[in-house]
Amino acid sequence: MEKQVLFTIFGATGDLASRKLYPSLFRLFKRGELAEHFAVIGTARRPWSDAHYREVVLDSIADLANDKRQAEHFASHFYYQSHDVADAEHYITLKNLGEKLSSQYQTLGNQVFFLAMAPQFFGTIAQHLKSEEILTGKGFERIVIEKPFGESLETATELNDALSQVFDESQIFRIDHYLGKEMIQSVSAVRFANPIFEAVWNHQFIDNIQITFAESIGVEDRGGYYDRSGALKDMIQNHVLQVLSLLAMEKPETYDEASILEEKVKALQAIRKYNPQEALENFVRGQYVSGEFDGQNFIAYRSEPNVAPDSRTETFVAGKFLIDNERWAGVPFYVRSGKRLTEKGTRINIVFKAGQNSLFGTNEQNVLTIYIQPTEGFSLTVNGKQAGAGFDIEPLRLAFRHDSEYLGNSPEAYETLFLDCLNGNGMNFSHWQEAKRAWELIDVIRQAWDSEKSDLPEYPARSMGPRAAFDLLERDGRSWSWVPDQWYRERGLLGTETEIK
Ligand SMILES: NC(=O)c1ccc[n+]([C@@H]2O[C@H](COP(=O)([O-])OP(=O)(O)OC[C@H]3O[C@@H](n4cnc5c(N)ncnc54)[C@H](OP(=O)(O)O)[C@@H]3O)[C@@H](O)[C@H]2O)c1
Repeated sequence: MEKQVLFTIFGATGDLASRKLYPSLFRLFKRGELAEHFAVIGTARRPWSDAHYREVVLDSIADLANDKRQAEHFASHFYYQSHDVADAEHYITLKNLGEKLSSQYQTLGNQVFFLAMAPQFFGTIAQHLKSEEILTGKGFERIVIEKPFGESLETATELNDALSQVFDESQIFRIDHYLGKEMIQSVSAVRFANPIFEAVWNHQFIDNIQITFAESIGVEDRGGYYDRSGALKDMIQNHVLQVLSLLAMEKPETYDEASILEEKVKALQAIRKYNPQEALENFVRGQYVSGEFDGQNFIAYRSEPNVAPDSRTETFVAGKFLIDNERWAGVPFYVRSGKRLTEKGTRINIVFKAGQNSLFGTNEQNVLTIYIQPTEGFSLTVNGKQAGAGFDIEPLRLAFRHDSEYLGNSPEAYETLFLDCLNGNGMNFSHWQEAKRAWELIDVIRQAWDSEKSDLPEYPARSMGPRAAFDLLERDGRSWSWVPDQWYRERGLLGTETEIK
């Protein structure tokens, strides 16, 4: 059904707005979720006119628009207001415009504020929305923000305090774009729709769980942001811990936002918080140097635009989390994430305990793999008899995979998230209790690293991280299940200089 709503986009002239937000809103328009009763106010400092703004919006949706009149009709719902978020006067103009559009488009007082700008502005914006009475309580009022949610527990708490003086938790939608619906559904479906897995989802049967978020790209044009953040804060604090909590949580009472959140938070609380020494023992980092892959050369991280030439920012993290509860006693959760790795892929490997199989003399472990990106699906490695004479056991892979269009940081993912926000469904957004616990766990690691002055381990661009990431598992008598570099090396696409020594 058509939604009646006024959007206000702060940071309307920026990259996020044009690459993600306008195309998502247009998709919703094409689907009929937005039709006549919506309007968008775009604001930023640049002195644009409505006409220019609409041109920008039309440009950003050019690939999606096959009907010029439809695109122009969509763009006619967009209005621009030049505005410095620090200037109280400007909120009065914004309020007047909002009231006018609300009545013109009959938006019923429903408002969504999208903060497509740096987090240091969030508190100021929220306070002005309240003090200048842009928030009226007439319809639903929601605020959508992108990561990063703070840079430490302290800054995240300050940010949350500022937002929660104005908005309830149920009105705050923190985007974690990896947490699109399909991610939660893929993991939940495998776990809870299959009694054969549910029965063995514990320390008695599972030896270890591995979560990999691998990117083959480097920092692209976001070197400035990334160099201040690094892989630990950019990926582990949010996306990786979200997936870990979905895997580790107890079965929720019902499949809804509140029950799932409750169980995820319990799982996060049960993750062992390391002391600094334990953090150094259980987490390793690395930075990519130049490398070659399939005849192509890749530059070192320190040579990327907007990255300090002596940067100590990690572009790779691997680590081991332990969960202190009955279900997971003694089961390590190994995680890794990095840029310029061999292959792009988000996947989870659940490695089952090896049976003491004296009958056939084999010790192969069953592995359940959940693929999240770029393909979606799962596979199960089971032991079977090798074809032919004799009786040799070999691992066989039962697999189901299909392309995943709707995942990740894509306009499609934003479209889903927008719609969830309009429907008031926060299931696919992260909540303060989760963010808070994640920062508690991550701060210790960050601080331990910051006080360590030894050289940062290196890895060649387009390999699977530094030697230390492999040692981490080997010292426990284990290894990574997913080793794409091996696959490429066997096919001559990866030089032996990238071999992990
Ligand atoms: N781009 C992405 O794909 C992406 C992905 C994940 C997260 N994010 C996050 O999303 C946020 C926005 O990212 P972005 O890439 O779109 O940044 P950006 O291109 O630098 O855009 C920033 C926006 O803020 C506006 N702005 C800056 N200072 C202002 C002020 N004092 N008053 C009013 N407007 C002001 C800028 O417009 P004027 O200069 O015209 O004022 C611009 O529209 C950041 O927090 C980023 O970390 C972005």
